[in-house]
Amino acid sequence: MKTELSLSAPSAVETECLVAVVLDRGEKDKTEPYVAASDKAVQAAAAEVIASGEVIGKTLESTLLHKPAGLKGGRLLLLGGGKAKKFTAANLRKLAGAAVRGLKAKGVKNFAFVAPEAEFSAEEAVKAIVEGAFLGSFDSDTYKSDRKEQKIEALTLVAKGEQNALQKSIAEARIIGESQNFTRDLVNEPSNHMTPTILAERAKKMCQEVGLHCEVYGADKIKELKMGAFWGVAQGSDEPPALIVMKYEPAGAPEKPVLGLVGKGITFDTGGISIKPSDGMEKMKYDMAGGATMIGVMRAIALLKPKVKVIGIVCASENMPSGKAQKPGDIQTAMSGKTIEIINTDAEGRLVLADGLCYARQLGCTHLVDAATLTGAVVVALGYANVGVFANDDPLYERFSQALAKSGEKMWRLPVDDEYLDMTRSSIADLMNTGGRWGGASTAAAFLREFAEDTPWIHLDIAGTAWMEEQKPWIAKGPSGIAVRSLIEFVRGF
Ligand code: BES
Ligand code: MN
Ligand code: ZN
Repeated sequence: MKTELSLSAPSAVETECLVAVVLDRGEKDKTEPYVAASDKAVQAAAAEVIASGEVIGKTLESTLLHKPAGLKGGRLLLLGGGKAKKFTAANLRKLAGAAVRGLKAKGVKNFAFVAPEAEFSAEEAVKAIVEGAFLGSFDSDTYKSDRKEQKIEALTLVAKGEQNALQKSIAEARIIGESQNFTRDLVNEPSNHMTPTILAERAKKMCQEVGLHCEVYGADKIKELKMGAFWGVAQGSDEPPALIVMKYEPAGAPEKPVLGLVGKGITFDTGGISIKPSDGMEKMKYDMAGGATMIGVMRAIALLKPKVKVIGIVCASENMPSGKAQKPGDIQTAMSGKTIEIINTDAEGRLVLADGLCYARQLGCTHLVDAATLTGAVVVALGYANVGVFANDDPLYERFSQALAKSGEKMWRLPVDDEYLDMTRSSIADLMNTGGRWGGASTAAAFLREFAEDTPWIHLDIAGTAWMEEQKPWIAKGPSGIAVRSLIEFVRGF
């Protein structure tokens, strides 16, 4: 999808479809809809449907007018944005996604979105529109032989403001949106098309394209590094594991901080010997979403070039039952030297991450973030709406929450107190890899915290949010690419 800027009046833009936002400035129950654009011709074109009461500006309300008088555009799409006072960039992002999905289904090839005049700046508006448009353009139908090749080819951003600043904002938003979709493409692949080896190859290719340093290590190096927890998971599979290390070290960046981004890359999670029920097991192809997230983030970082060092680490493996697989009761020695009693081989994510976090510290990372589809328990706690966030350091969490405000992604902090760690103490080893029946998201986080040690660390449990169970008007069913945008903003803000 091409993106371009137009500083012309919206009514003068030649396009298949002009899109404008309708907001409601009425107090409480009263409605007072208006087009959020100062162009008189656009207002006139929408006047009749607004006066009739048909268009009230309700969120995601969508009205398509053909051959609107006074406009160069072939159609006018009015999208409701809800109450003007509550209208945010996050709402706008969704509207742009909905515009792409709605117009694409109608065979429209190009459209122009009028940046609404709202509480936020025009730069923020075009950024939200571009990000949302890329988000909306993704579909997980690559394996359908009858898939429709409908695509939006070009998006024009119609905005008022300083040309260079707007263009910069559009270019950055493109990188962010495309990187999020890059992650979604990886997550979308089934496990026979996305083995640890293939994931590593995809990461390597991407790194070459954007000029990142990338190393991929196999079983030998994993054993040599004494990553007993990671290897304990990997040993059960015929597919070789991969330890993917991507480095971004820009000239002129200070020695410190070095941010470490560690992702869980289980390309299929059967549960291992503690095998999962077959109902729904097919979903476990997305158990590498945390790893894919970090690969997408590294791509964006390489292109956006912030002046801060970042190392991305993905621990990629299958979790399989076999004659070579680890068994409940086995004790593994992690890279840090801590011993782990394996209670349930299905709690494999924390094992691979334990060594990933330790390795990140060894490589000199001063701050850590991990992302993982780690627990069913986080889905019980937060459903599909929020990512579970855990942190051992309040200032780092504060920084992260500033990034959330920019990305518009929904996340909720959950506790990781010592009580949860106590639940994972083993009588025969240092830790158990499970913490009993209750508080499963927090016991898993407490386990990981032991491997972040005293390094400031954030853990994102994306089990409930990495895969959209239903389509929404602004986003397809399937991989969501959640956390990519927040992590990009987090790194840029450092
Ligand atoms: N990959 C799963 C977690 C998961 C669940 C991801 C649902 C996406 C959707 C993880 O490896 C797992 O199996 N966790 C277990 C841990 C338990 C055995 C302590 C779980 O949550 O049931
Ligand atoms: Mn598992
Ligand atoms: Zn898993």
